[in-house]
Amino acid sequence: MAPSEASGYGIVAKILHWLIFSLLAVQYAIGSIMPHIGRKTLNEGWVSWHFSVGAAILFFIVIRLVWRMLHPVPLIPTMAPWERAVSGITHWSLYILVLVMTLLGWAATNSRGWDVILFGVIPLPKISPTGSDWGHECGDIHNILVYVLVGFILIHVAGALYHYFVKRDQVVGRMLFASNR
Ligand code: HEM
Ligand code: HEM
Repeated sequence: MAPSEASGYGIVAKILHWLIFSLLAVQYAIGSIMPHIGRKTLNEGWVSWHFSVGAAILFFIVIRLVWRMLHPVPLIPTMAPWERAVSGITHWSLYILVLVMTLLGWAATNSRGWDVILFGVIPLPKISPTGSDWGHECGDIHNILVYVLVGFILIHVAGALYHYFVKRDQVVGRMLFASNR
C-alpha cells in the first residue's frame, strides 16, 4: 500500500462528505420552492439563497476533490469486481455531476446579469456574459441534470443499504463518525 493510502476515511473526508450531503439537501429544497427563474425574476429571497448555497457547494466540492486526490482511500478488499466497477462509476459520477451542476448554475446566473458571491463576501468572476444564449442553455441543462444527480444519489444510497443489510460489511460504518477505520 502506498504511504499516502489509508485503510479508511479520515475526519476531513467524513466532514466534507456529510457537509456536502447536507448542503445538497438544502439546495435541492431551495431549488424546488424558489420561483422559476424568468425574465422578471428578482435576485432576492430563495433565488438569492440558491446562488449562495450553490457557491458554497462549489467551494467545498473543489476542496473535497483536491483532498480526495491527496488522500485516496481504497475500496474494501472483499468487494467483487462488478461491485468495484459500480462503486467507482457512481462515486466519480457524483463528484463530476456536482461540480458540473454548480458551474452550469454559475454560468446561468451570470447570463441573467447577476453575480455569484461566495459566502456573501467574495464576488466570483463572470463566466458568461449577460444575456448570452449559451448561458441560458446552461440553465436548461442545469435543470435537467438535477434529475440525473438525484438518480445517482439514489443508486449510491441503494449501494449503502446493500452493504449494510445484505453484505453486512464495514462499508457504511467507515463513512460514519463513530468509526475510526
Ligand atoms: C449541485 C448543486 C445544485 C443543485 C442540486 C441545484 C438545484 C436546482 C434546482 C432543483 C433548480 C430548479 C429547476 C427547475 O426549476 O426546474 C435549479 C435552478 C437553477 N439554479 Fe441550481 N442547483 C445547484 C447549484 C446551483 C448553483 C451553484 C447556481 C449558481 C451559482 C445555481 C443557479 C441556478 C439557476 C440560475 C437556476 C434557474 C435555471 C434556469 O431556469 O435558467 N444552481 N437548481
Ligand atoms: C444518506 C445518504 C448517503 C449515504 C448513506 C452515503 C454513504 C456513503 C458511504 C458509506 C461511503 C463510503 C464508500 C466506501 O467506503 O467504499 C460513501 C462514499 C462517497 N459518497 Fe456518499 N452517502 C450518502 C450521500 C452522498 C451524497 C448526497 C453524495 C453526493 C456528492 C455522496 C458522494 C459520495 C462519494 C463521491 C463517495 C466516494 C468517496 C471516495 O472518493 O472514496 N454521498 N458514501
